[in-house]
Amino acid sequence: MLLDSIVQKALSDIVGAPDITALNETRVKYLGKKGEITLQMKQVANISPEKRPAFGKDVNMARANVEQALKVKRDELEALDNRRRLEKEKIDITLPGRSALPGALHPLTKVYYELRDIFLGMGFDVVEGPEVEFDKYNFEMLNIPKEHPARDAQDTFYVSDDVVLRTHTSPVQIRTMLEQKPPIRIVCPGRVYRHDDVDATHSPVFMQLEGLVVDKNIRFSDLKGAIEAFLKSYYGEDVKTKFRPGFFPFTEPSAEVDVTCAACGGDGCSACKRTGMIEVLGCGLVNPVVLENCGIDPREYSGFAFGMGIDRLANTKYAIPDIRLLYENDIRFLRQFI
Ligand code: PHE
Repeated sequence: MLLDSIVQKALSDIVGAPDITALNETRVKYLGKKGEITLQMKQVANISPEKRPAFGKDVNMARANVEQALKVKRDELEALDNRRRLEKEKIDITLPGRSALPGALHPLTKVYYELRDIFLGMGFDVVEGPEVEFDKYNFEMLNIPKEHPARDAQDTFYVSDDVVLRTHTSPVQIRTMLEQKPPIRIVCPGRVYRHDDVDATHSPVFMQLEGLVVDKNIRFSDLKGAIEAFLKSYYGEDVKTKFRPGFFPFTEPSAEVDVTCAACGGDGCSACKRTGMIEVLGCGLVNPVVLENCGIDPREYSGFAFGMGIDRLANTKYAIPDIRLLYENDIRFLRQFI
């Protein structure tokens, strides 16, 4: 019978459809407007009335069978499609992630924080000031008059006749003494500028930390005690310190302080020029002239001051042979301090 063979063909086309598009074509071929089964349905009118009900039933059944088969196949193809898509979109969560490098503090910043914490612990306050400074505060009031060699154009960057890039943070101490009555106990950290050529121990910009104490009855022994306590706290209890006489226009008497060379442990090496010691700090009792310049009566008050290069303190503690390493920021160097 024709209808049966159409259904057989339709079922085998359906089963063989490789994808949804092919299945849709098959649907049109049999059930579309001009589809083979649709055409059979249209035949009903031409069938004799007594055979019509049976024929109609057969055609409807044929159509229902084909529709059912289409639905089964469609579900199957859709499930297959889904599986393929999921397979393609699969993410391998076992792959190790790319970790971000955490940021870290620069060794100079670390050393500065360490120094700051020691002085905060000793009762000092931290005061900052401008890097572009009046000649008056950077030199004159510190008892460095116009002809003094320390302010030679060789050493100082002049912005104008009476404005300079500060060559030390001592002007912050002047500013503090002008504003504040004793007792004063401060440290002044910051960048300073000197007209030096770059080499292993010099940089035209470097970091200083200076300190000032002004009160009644401040003596050299107070300075020595404070400096020794600080150096032991920074370098460790075993550090040896040596106070040598020195000269600064703003302190009298003045001293320079050496500590055991970290590179050789005191045996003598090229870093310490075979002496076993390295100079790290300048200090002294505040020159009465400076106190007077700031409106503090030297008969009533006395004080001590000290100053150091933070770079030098970093280099001597961590045996860094060249100051340039601290400014070039080669990540291989910096990583060692994380
Ligand atoms: N201001 C000096 C300098 O920059 C350091 C110093 C400060 C020395 C205080 C003695 C006392 O070199």
